Amino acid sequence: MSDFSSLGLSDWLIQQCKQMGINKPTPVQQSCVPAILEGRDCMGCAKTGSGKTAAFVLPVLQKLSEDPYGIFCLVLTPTRELAYQIAEQFRVLGKPLGLRDCIVVGGMDMVAQALELSKKPHVVVATPGRLADHIRSSNTFSMNKIRFLILDEADRLLEQGCTDFTKDLEVILGAVPAQRQTLLFSATLTDTLQELKTIAMNRPFFWESKSEVRTVEELDQRYILTPEKVKDAYLVHLIQKFQDDHEDWSIMIFTSTCKNCQILNMMLREFKFPSVALHSMMKQKQRFANLAKFKSSVFKILIATDVASRGLDIPTVQVVINHNTPGLPKTYIHRVGRTARAGRNGVAITLVTQYDIHLVHAIEEQIQTKLKEFSVKESEVLNILTQVNVTRRECEIKLESTDFDEKKEINKRKQLILEGKDPDLEAKRKAELEKIRKDKKLFKAKIQKKQDMLKKKKHQQKNEIKVLQIKRKKKTVKANN
Ligand SMILES: Nc1ncnc2c1ncn2[C@@H]1O[C@H](COP(=O)(O)OP(=O)(O)OP(=O)(O)O)[C@@H](O)[C@H]1O
Ligand SMILES: [Mg+2]
Repeated sequence: MSDFSSLGLSDWLIQQCKQMGINKPTPVQQSCVPAILEGRDCMGCAKTGSGKTAAFVLPVLQKLSEDPYGIFCLVLTPTRELAYQIAEQFRVLGKPLGLRDCIVVGGMDMVAQALELSKKPHVVVATPGRLADHIRSSNTFSMNKIRFLILDEADRLLEQGCTDFTKDLEVILGAVPAQRQTLLFSATLTDTLQELKTIAMNRPFFWESKSEVRTVEELDQRYILTPEKVKDAYLVHLIQKFQDDHEDWSIMIFTSTCKNCQILNMMLREFKFPSVALHSMMKQKQRFANLAKFKSSVFKILIATDVASRGLDIPTVQVVINHNTPGLPKTYIHRVGRTARAGRNGVAITLVTQYDIHLVHAIEEQIQTKLKEFSVKESEVLNILTQVNVTRRECEIKLESTDFDEKKEINKRKQLILEGKDPDLEAKRKAELEKIRKDKKLFKAKIQKKQDMLKKKKHQQKNEIKVLQIKRKKKTVKANN
């Protein structure tokens, strides 16, 4: 592996890297940095924790030092926490330049952000929703001179999911110049390659790590097969075990919903495991505070929804536990990628119920690796089962009394109003869609049933013919005798 100077980076940047303990470029940096310095668009698809951030921060800083102005570079990212993390890398590596950055994310004061934007920072790091709001509502800043547009976690920004960024992206793409360099990075780019190519059209340089396996070698990937009702007892048992054996390990637990995240957090605290939660229903201040407590190892357990599954770089995380099996292999790759970063070791354990086995098969096929069973003393789990389930129920009752669902509904309505939609109309539309989906499902099930019956009948007929043939044969043998 060569060093950074052979990639065309200046000495001051190499010195900054050294100060951060970055001495040799990783493969994604080695390939993408020269292409970006050459002026090409770039799509970099490399495994989690392999240094994709520096692969775009370094060449941008080099170019910025040659021609400093603001706004020079815009970075988009799907989550607020990730925006802060990326801005920090820019700030640390760009310190000798006196780099000025601005973070534009939801949940923070819009007026203060607008003021900062008007001061022409060199780099803006933003989540699409809030930046699009600023573009729609203000003319105190301009992005029509930006040299670099970067989409970190680019596939997430382009996919249409529960948080759909496509409309906001349209607004942002309308505000940046066509003449620019576009850089797209993620550990999972390949599904959205076509969409990405329409954004990065300037002789795009595509780099993908060669390995068939999509997760890192240093990661020990395990599963535990468990009935739904015993899942929480396994979780408590695992945490007890890890905390007994490795006091200094930090653990990230992923779960499917904000409510479950909240309940698990309450439950673990009842068992005297100091934990913090991170999900999108929480106030922004609380989200940052909790993440800061986890990052500084004041709390060693973080329970999160997928809002924390991408990009977060917390070196102390030794274990990732999937309390639910992720529905998409992509989600699995990002979640387990929160550990075993930058060459470190890590363990990922996925709790799998009988209904999730097909999901595990899909994950294994995608990552080209088989998960191994994690052995547990079942008697120890059964010993705590009743206590865990009773505690969970108590926590559920406590949470219900805090109007969690009601607050969720109010938040949703607020969000829709902010987006200029009528909440009642949206609810009606949703119900109609749900009905169509249900009807479709029923129809499919009906057809499947009919097909199964036909198959059964055919099978029966075949069997009857076989029996007849055997009988006939027997008869002729008898007659011949
Ligand atoms: N060349 C390098 N040598 C050693 N460490 C590095 C190098 N480049 C980056 N790192 C460190 O590796 C860690 C992971 O980097 P980064 O967060 O950029 O990973 P990533 O590829 O973006 O992962 P993800 O897909 O999860 O977002 C960081 O702590 C970073 O400082
Ligand atoms: Mg990253």
